[in-house]
Amino acid sequence: MITIRAAGAADAAGIQAVYAPYVAASPATFEEELPGVEELRARMEAAPRKPWLVAETDGELVGYAYASAHHSRASYRWSADTSVYLAASVHRRGLGRRRYDLLLPEVRALGYLHVFAGITLPNAASVALHTAVGFEQTGLYRDVGYRLGAWRDVAFFALALTSPLPTRPVEPRPWAPAAD
Ligand SMILES: CC(C)(COP(=O)(O)OP(=O)(O)OC[C@H]1O[C@@H](n2cnc3c(N)ncnc32)[C@H](O)[C@@H]1OP(=O)(O)O)[C@@H](O)C(=O)NCCC(=O)NCCS
Repeated sequence: MITIRAAGAADAAGIQAVYAPYVAASPATFEEELPGVEELRARMEAAPRKPWLVAETDGELVGYAYASAHHSRASYRWSADTSVYLAASVHRRGLGRRRYDLLLPEVRALGYLHVFAGITLPNAASVALHTAVGFEQTGLYRDVGYRLGAWRDVAFFALALTSPLPTRPVEPRPWAPAAD
């Protein structure tokens, strides 16, 4: 059985193991060096803290999804980026969808108003997943990164979490998972 739950600091090593093959051999990420466990913990706890969820099967961490800052400048603070990674063994079983169906309401409940995802093309699975949960493509940067021997295009996808937008937004709150 596959369970999805809030991630804690102890999950950083499992998250690193899922991420490692993508850093090594996939243009899905533009990160070229595998981040260490401490670095991943720091990302998970970066202020203001944002949701990280993990998927487990029989106690083994097989995937994760998380929100991160869209941009460091202050006026971007109601926007978040989201990302999902799954071990290849559990692709296309509805897990990406299930994690987004849990992650997006958590992000919305914290006061974020828009989420964004950058997808290196081609990535049929990621485009299909983001479209299935309501994202729309809003931009395309051609040849924006050189990764694994080729120039790569990145499509930008966006999803409004609240409509209409408030004229005076309240400050987003930090994520505080129940397990803490
Ligand atoms: C992208 C990823 C998270 C998708 O997760 P997943 O669990 O395999 O996807 P799901 O089974 O939840 O499918 C979600 C939707 O995408 C569709 N889909 C999934 N894989 C697909 C594929 N290879 N081609 C076309 N459509 C696909 C499904 O049919 C489903 O659509 P529906 O809800 O309309 O039926 C997963 O493939 C992955 O981890 N890929 C490698 C890392 C990566 O690229 N991450 C994204 C970085 S932007």
